[in-house]
Amino acid sequence: MCGIIGYIGKRQAQPILLHSLAKLEYRGYDSCGIAVASSGIQIYKDAVRVAELAKASPQLDGTIGIAHTRWATHGEPSQVNAHPHCDCTSRLAVVHNGVINNYQSLREQLTSEGHKFISETDTEVISHLVEKYYHGNLEKAVAAALSDVEGSYAIIVLAADEPKLVFAKKDSPLVIGIGDRENFAASDVPALLDYTNRVIYLEDGDIGVVTEDSIKVIRDSKEIAREEHKVLWSAEQAQKGGYEHFMLKEIHEQPKVIRDTLGEYTQVPQQIVDLEIMRDTGKEPLLILACGTSYHAGLVGKYLIEELLRVPARAEIPSEFNYHGHSFTTRLTIAVTQSGETADTLKAMKMLKEAGCKVIAISNVVGSTATRIADQTIYTRAGPEISVAATKSFIAQLMVLYWLVMVYSKVYSKADAKRAADMLLGLRQLPSKVQQILDNDSAILKCAKYLSSYENVFFAGRGINFPIALEGALKLKEISYIHAEGYAAGELKHGPFALLSADTPVVAVVAKDNTYEAMLTNIKEVKARRAPVIALVGEEDETIEKIVDLVITVPRVNAIFSPVVNTVALQLLAYYTARQRGCSIDFPRNLAKSVTVE
Ligand code: AGP
Repeated sequence: MCGIIGYIGKRQAQPILLHSLAKLEYRGYDSCGIAVASSGIQIYKDAVRVAELAKASPQLDGTIGIAHTRWATHGEPSQVNAHPHCDCTSRLAVVHNGVINNYQSLREQLTSEGHKFISETDTEVISHLVEKYYHGNLEKAVAAALSDVEGSYAIIVLAADEPKLVFAKKDSPLVIGIGDRENFAASDVPALLDYTNRVIYLEDGDIGVVTEDSIKVIRDSKEIAREEHKVLWSAEQAQKGGYEHFMLKEIHEQPKVIRDTLGEYTQVPQQIVDLEIMRDTGKEPLLILACGTSYHAGLVGKYLIEELLRVPARAEIPSEFNYHGHSFTTRLTIAVTQSGETADTLKAMKMLKEAGCKVIAISNVVGSTATRIADQTIYTRAGPEISVAATKSFIAQLMVLYWLVMVYSKVYSKADAKRAADMLLGLRQLPSKVQQILDNDSAILKCAKYLSSYENVFFAGRGINFPIALEGALKLKEISYIHAEGYAAGELKHGPFALLSADTPVVAVVAKDNTYEAMLTNIKEVKARRAPVIALVGEEDETIEKIVDLVITVPRVNAIFSPVVNTVALQLLAYYTARQRGCSIDFPRNLAKSVTVE
C-alpha cells in the first residue's frame, strides 16, 4: 500500500505535491519522491519521510508533476527503489501503488530488447513498457503497456513536453480531484481535501487523462462519464477512511489482508520459500521467537506445527531466550515480527545465526532489520499498521503460519493431500467469515459496555485458543487500561481462582474441538465462584448459552481456523470497551508501535 498524487494546473506543482503527499503517509512512509515537468523531467527521491524530502529537495520548477510515498513490497527502501521510476530516455516518469505479479518475466523480456533497469522494483517495468509502446500518444502507450501487466495498479504517468497526466486503475484505489483551472489524481481523498472536495471515484479498468482544465475517463477505448461527488470529511477523517480510529479501520481491513496475504502465497508457493532450509531441520525442535502479539501468533504456529506435522516446536519470548537460550540447539528458527525492528527479537536472531541456525523471518516491513538478518523472509501483506495495538498484522501472521504448515506438509509429507486441500478451502473462506463478524457486532458492543465498568478481567482458552485468550487480554489491557490476564483455562484452578469474584468477569474462548468438554467444566467452575462469564462460541451453542451471562457467537469454521474468527471478535471487544471508557485508542499511554530498545 503506497500513496500516489499528481497535479496539473496554474500553480507551482512542487509545494502542492509535497503537501498532499504528507497526507498519504499513513499508506506507507519508508521512502518517497517527486517528479516535476517543465523542459524535461526533474526528479528528487530518497529513503526518507516526506517532511525530510521537502526540506532537502531542490526547487523543481513546473506546474505539472507526480509524487509517491512508499510501502515497499519489491526492493528494499532506498533512493534507487523510491518512486517515480523512469524509462531509458528519462522522458517518462511513473508512480505506482499495487503489485505487478509478472514483473520478472516482463523485465527479462524488456532487458532482452535493450532496456536498462536500475531498480529492484516491480514498478519500473511499467515505465519501460510505456516507452516501448510510445508512438506520440501517451494514453495509447499506457493502455498498451498495461495490457502486458498482471497484478494490481493505480498509476500516474508524466511525460516531458506533454501538458497532461495519464492515470489508470485496477485493484488499487485512485480518485480524481476537480479544481478551478487545476486537477489532481490521488490514491485517496485526504491528499485532495485542502485543495478541493469535488472528486471522481474511478472504477477498476478505468484509464484516462487529466489536463489543467479537462478530465477524460476512457474504458475499452471509449470516453465515458464518471459521477462527481462532494466529500464532507476532514482530511484526518479521510485518512481513517471514515472510521473513528485507525484501529477500527485496520480491524475492518482484515478480510482484504487475508486475501492479499494468502493470494501472494497460494499462487506461487515454491518461489517464496526455500524448502531446503525447511528440509534440513533434522529432529531438533523448531524454534519460534517473537514478542507481544507476534509471540501469540507464534504460539498458534507451535500448535499448528505440532498438531498437523507432528514436529516438535517451541515458542519463546526473546527477552528471556536471550539470557538462557544458549544451551538450546535448533537448526531452524522462525522469528515473527510485524515491524522487523523489535530489539529483543533481533538480538535473538543474531545470536542464533552466529550459532549456525537458519532463520526465517515473518515480517510486515520490507527492508526492516529482521529481513536483513534472516536467511529468508516471508512477508505478511497487512500494509502499514498505524494503530499501536496490532490487529491486521496478527491475522496476516496467522495466514503465513497456516500457509507455512501447508508447505511444510509437503516437506514432511505428514498431512495428506486431502487435508491440505481442505485447509486451503478453509483458508479461502476466512475473509467472508471475518466479514460476517464485522457486519454483526451488536453482541460484542453489548459485552463491551458490560466489561467497561470492571477493572479486572480474565480471559481463558484451551489448545489452539489458549494463545487467543492471551491476545484478547493483551488487546484489552493495551487500549482500555483494564487489568486483563489470559490463562490456559486448565490453569485457573491452580491459583487464579483465588482472584475470582463477582467483580472479575471471565471471557471464555470456546472452540468445538477436543477441548470443548473441558472448557465447559472450567466455565462451570468459574460460575461456581460467582464470576460473570462472557463466552465466545461458534454459532448456535445452547449448552453454553444456558450457563453463561453473555455470549458472543462467531461464524462456524473448522476448529483449526477458530483462532482467526475468535481474535477478530476479541479485537472488537477490546476496541469498543476502550471507546466506552474514552481511552486514546490509536496511541495508548506508555507504548510504542515498535520497541527498538531491550
Ligand atoms: C501489540 O499490540 C503490541 N504493539 C506489541 O505487543 C507488539 O506486538 C510487540 O512489540 C512486537 O512487535 P513486532 O511484531 O513489531 O516485533
